[in-house]
Amino acid sequence: MFLAVQGPPERAAVLGRVAITREFKPTEVQSPGMVLGPDEPAVTVPTDGPEIPKLGFGTARITGNDCKRAVETALEVGYRHIDTAQMYDNETAVGEAIAESDVDRDDVFVVTKVHPDNAAREDVLSSTRASLDRLGVATVDLLLLHAPSDRAPLEETLGAMNDLQSEGVVDHIGVSNFEVGGLERARDISETPIVANQVKYHPYHQQGELLEYCAGRDVCLTAYSPLAEGAVPGDDRLAEIGDRYDKSAAQVALRWLVQQPAVAAIPKTATLAHIEANAAVFDFELTAEEMAAVADLGDGVWDRLAATLGLR
Ligand SMILES: NC(=O)c1ccc[n+]([C@@H]2O[C@H](COP(=O)([O-])OP(=O)(O)OC[C@H]3O[C@@H](n4cnc5c(N)ncnc54)[C@H](OP(=O)(O)O)[C@@H]3O)[C@@H](O)[C@H]2O)c1
Repeated sequence: MFLAVQGPPERAAVLGRVAITREFKPTEVQSPGMVLGPDEPAVTVPTDGPEIPKLGFGTARITGNDCKRAVETALEVGYRHIDTAQMYDNETAVGEAIAESDVDRDDVFVVTKVHPDNAAREDVLSSTRASLDRLGVATVDLLLLHAPSDRAPLEETLGAMNDLQSEGVVDHIGVSNFEVGGLERARDISETPIVANQVKYHPYHQQGELLEYCAGRDVCLTAYSPLAEGAVPGDDRLAEIGDRYDKSAAQVALRWLVQQPAVAAIPKTATLAHIEANAAVFDFELTAEEMAAVADLGDGVWDRLAATLGLR
C-alpha cells in the first residue's frame, strides 16, 4: 500500500518512509495531493503487523447504491483503506464497489467490525463469515471488535478472533472504542497483536493519553468522526489556517490528524467533491505552531503529547 506524499522531500521525514511489501501492489493515481507509487514516501502507520494507510474512507450511514458509488469514487481517487462494519448494513455495497473497481482487491486495506452483540464465540465466528460473504472477499485485512461488550468475556471474543486469524479468514485484529485500560487488557489477552484501536478523535475531542499509549506500542489509533460529524468544515479558526495553504477547514483537521505518528483518519462523505477534497491532505504540512493551534480547539494537553510524538 502506498499513499504517497507529493512535494518536497522534507515531508518524507515528517511522515516516514514505507517499507511495505505485503501483497499490496502500487498503482499510479493522478489526483490532487495523492499519488501512489513504489518509491514515494508513504503515508501509512507502521504497526506490529500491517502498514495501515493513514487515510481511510468511512462508510457509516451510507448504504446501497450511494455507498457503492462513494466507495468506487474513493478507490478511483486513491483511497486504499475502506472502513465498514456489521452495524452499517453496507458490507454488500462496499464489497461490490471493491469487486467492480479497477483497483485490485489486494491493494485495498479492508476493515470490518464485529457487532458488540456478536461478541460470544459462536457469534464472532458465524457473523464474521457472514461479513466476508457479504463483502465477497476471502479475507479481511483487519477485523475489529466494534466496542467493549457485555455479551461475553473479552477472552472469549478475542479467542474467537484469534481463531479466525489462524484459519486465514482474517489477516489482523483490533478493537474499537477501547480506553487505555481495556486496550492494555486486550493486548495481554490476545495471542496476536492488537494492531489498531478505532476511536473518536478530532480537534474538539482529543485522545492524548490513548495516543501516547498507542504510539509507544505500535498500535494504530484510527480516528473516527475526524471531521466531528460535519462540525469541523465550518470552523473559521481552521479555515484561517487553511487559507495559508489554499486548503479548507476540513483539510486542515484531517492534515492535523494524519501528521501525527500512529494516527490514521477515516472521514466519511457521500458527496463526490468532498471525497476528493478530503484526500488532498498530503501535499502540505502544518507547522508545530499550527499543530498546537488546532489542538487548542479541544481540551487536550498538547505540549506533552507533541513532545512524545516528536512533533516539536
Ligand atoms: N468505530 C466506531 O464506533 C465508529 C463510530 C463513528 C464513526 N466510525 C467510522 O468513522 C467514519 C467517519 O465518522 P463519521 O461518519 O461519524 O463523521 P465524520 O467523517 O467526522 O463527518 C462526516 C460528515 O462530514 C461531512 N463532510 C465530510 N467531508 C466534508 C467536507 N470536505 N466538507 C464539508 N463537509 C464534509 C459529511 O457530509 P457529506 O456526506 O455531505 O460530505 C458528513 O456529514 C464513519 O463513517 C465510520 O466508518 C466508527
